[in-house]
Amino acid sequence: MNPLFKITYLYRFFTLLFLLSIPITTSLAQEPEFKQADGVEVVRKNCTSCHSAQLVTQNSGSRAVWVSRLRWMQETQGMPSLDPTDEGIILSYLAANYGQKASGRRPLLHSSLLPQNPYDLQE
Ligand code: HEC
Repeated sequence: MNPLFKITYLYRFFTLLFLLSIPITTSLAQEPEFKQADGVEVVRKNCTSCHSAQLVTQNSGSRAVWVSRLRWMQETQGMPSLDPTDEGIILSYLAANYGQKASGRRPLLHSSLLPQNPYDLQE
């Protein structure tokens, strides 16, 4: 094969590869900030005007915990009261998709797996 043809071929191959990768990387960058599920649009509409979606999704809790967060924002952060139907949809969505975790932290390591505690060292 002619070497010039080979280079042209390689160039075309990588250009095509690059162009094909653009939609993939942009779609990764635009990953939905909330889990797709019933009620997500109501949540997005009511919960992203003051802060990011991430502030919501990095939290978790039972329905009662989510209720208490909404009341806290309403009482102290100027959040308007929600339409009761919307509030029900939002709470169901949050409790189902960002529900109470069994354990929020990893268990402690056994002391045999840790470096010696400097406060236990004798002088
Ligand atoms: C009127 C403005 C406003 C709206 C609307 C709003 N929030 Fe907030 N929210 C706040 C403010 C202010 C904070 C505190 C921000 C901070 O700590 O940086 C907050 C904090 C939070 C937190 C973190 C609480 C914590 O314990 O750290 C969660 C979770 C949250 N909001 C969820 C929601 C949800 C769910 C909705 C939609 C139902 C919502 N927010 C809509 C103002 C709002």
